[in-house]
Parts: sequence; structure tokens; C-alpha cells
Amino acid sequence: MRTKITAAITAIGAYVPEDKLTNADLANMVDTNDEWIRSRTGIEERRILKGAGLATSDMVVPAVRAVCEKRGIKPEDIDCLIVATVTPDMMFPSTANLACDKLGAKNAWGFDLLAACSGFLFALTTGASLIESGRYRRVVVCGADKMSSIIDYTDRTTCILFGDGAGAVLLEPNIEGFGVLDSILRTDGSGGKYLNMKGGGSLNPATIETVTNKMHYAYQEGQAVFKFAVVGMADVAYELMERNNLTADDIAWLVPHQANKRIIDATASRMGLPEDKVMLNIAKYGNTTAATIPLCLWDYRKQINKGDNLVLAAFGGGFTWGATLVKWAM
Ligand code: UT7
Repeated sequence: MRTKITAAITAIGAYVPEDKLTNADLANMVDTNDEWIRSRTGIEERRILKGAGLATSDMVVPAVRAVCEKRGIKPEDIDCLIVATVTPDMMFPSTANLACDKLGAKNAWGFDLLAACSGFLFALTTGASLIESGRYRRVVVCGADKMSSIIDYTDRTTCILFGDGAGAVLLEPNIEGFGVLDSILRTDGSGGKYLNMKGGGSLNPATIETVTNKMHYAYQEGQAVFKFAVVGMADVAYELMERNNLTADDIAWLVPHQANKRIIDATASRMGLPEDKVMLNIAKYGNTTAATIPLCLWDYRKQINKGDNLVLAAFGGGFTWGATLVKWAM
């Protein structure tokens, strides 16, 4: 009988820019205040990638380099790089393509995956399938977004939420039952109207009008998204627990997408998890879209033990949402 191969996370890396944008900074830019932002979202500051010529791939590269260093491998040893992002350097070539070149990952193929805030989970599940197939041995999955490139800093309802960053994990075959064990992923395009960026694609190619009408910025109807997110993320995480016969005691960590602390609290409560089992770094980075989950794993890496069950959960534009069960291998 063939041994079942799972995709274990064998290294993790991250990168956040040094420049900080605090709530106080934002209060000088738009009609907002620290108290409103903290109480409604849990955010205190975000990181912003500043500098001419710097794009999402410039955050992917240091995050992937950190992964390689941690594992003692070279970029040439990577078989495939998947970059989850809504802020690619360009429409094409893919950010993965550009990052592989900058890294010197000469033997890798790669592609970008677009699933907004659920991008890392969609990419992790895709990358795990490549490993499980037996065809690839080293797949790097990266969530990276330069959200500051698509944010309207005159719109107080969105500009306070988002930040820039990147996080990456290495997936390798495992035959001891560690790694990505299960995923429930969902999409519902009818929710697309509540959270999107209308300009720049084939529907609304860039024109003077699309720029004037601010169609190249992220658009969000916050309240509508909140209502779907708070139910969607909690439901799918709970469904994943049930289908794997896990109780709250069996779960070491909830690793939630960091969009709003109130959505995270609702998910933890539905799962019956106490606060000390919930990874939370929204205060430091805000919503970095595809990067939130790997940035959490990075920040909490010293507190995760081999064999821990982690439930990763996200909800975002699309709508897209999902939950993934990972047994920690390191
Ligand atoms: O990651 C992708 C998925 N996205 C999400 O999960 C985000 C989901 N949505 C949310 O997290 C929340 O809806 C927000 C944080 C975006 C907004 O919080 P809210 O509690 O839903 O606020 P609201 O939009 O209902 O606005 C409440 C009030 C309004 O004023 P009035 O009409 O009550 O007078 C807003 O105009 O707060 C006002 N407001 C602000 N006030 C100060 C909106 N933005 C701000 C602001 N500062 N930045």
C-alpha cells in the first residue's frame, strides 16, 4: 500500500516594511480618531512599503529568502512558488514569476493566485495538493500585498484598515501525518459587489474616467462585508472542527485572517476557544489581505509546538472564505 503523503510546513518567513502608519497619523489625514479605529477594528498601526520602484515582489523576496535560510536550502531548490495577492506588481507577468527571477529560483515554476483575504488558504491548499501528488518536493506558498498601492487615503472607511506585508511557508512531503490535513474553501461571486477594485481589468481598462472616478482603489461596503464575514468565517471553522471530530480542547491555535477583531472574537466564540488560543496581531499590521495568516504564524512561531492542531480561517473579497486544518510539523 502506498504511504499517504501530506504537505508539512517545514519553514516560515516573513517581511514587513519598516515605515509605520499609526492611528494618530491617519487622524491627521482624514476625519477619524484613535479611539474609533481601536474600538471598531482593533488596529493601532500598519506597515507601509515606501520607496520608488518597490512593489509586492520586493516583500515576497525577503520572505522567501527567510524561508530558505531557515530550512538551509537555496532558492534553486524551490520547485514551485505560489504568490497569493490582489496587488501584483503588474497584471502580468505574475509576481511569482518576477520574484523567482529576483531570488534566483531558477528551477521553480510559479503563479499568482487571486482570492483576496482568503488567498493564503487557497494557495496553501493548492500547494499542498502539488506535494500530495508526489510530483513536487519543495513548494513555497506566499501571501503578500502592498495594499497601500490601492488605497484611497482620503476615504476614512477603508484607509484605516489596510497595511502592507508578506509571509511565506515551505511545504515538503511528510509521511508521519503532519501538515495540511483538511480544507473547506468556498466562493460566492454574488458578494463581489461589496468588496472590489473595479478599474484596471478587462471590464474597465484604465482611462481618465476610471482614474477620476477612483476605480483603481479598493472599494468596500464595510457593514455588508462584516455581516457575511462574521457568519461565514465562524461557520466554516466550526464545520472543519466537526468534520475532523475535533473539540476546542484538541485545537492549540486559531489562526484567523486579521480584518477586524470583532470578526475574530465571533469565530473563536463559535469554536468554543478561549482568547489565549487565538493568534492576534491586527494591532501591529492592520489588514494585510493575503499576508495576515502567515504573518500570524511568523509572530507566534515560538509558541507553536510540534503536533499542535491549528485551524486557519479567513473571509474576504469575492466573497471567498475557508478554513484549513494544519498539524504543526516543526
Ligand atoms: O478583509 C476583507 C474582509 N473585510 C472585512 O472583513 C471588513 C468587514 N467590515 C468591518 O470590519 C467594519 O464594517 C468596518 C471596520 C469597516 C466599519 O465598522 P462598522 O462598525 O461597520 O462601522 P460603520 O461602517 O457602520 O460606520 C459607523 C459610523 C458611521 O457614522 P454614522 O453614520 O453612524 O454617523 C461612519 O460614517 O462610523 C463612521 N465612520 C468613521 N468614524 C471615524 C466610518 N469610518 C470611520 C472612521 N473614523 N475611520
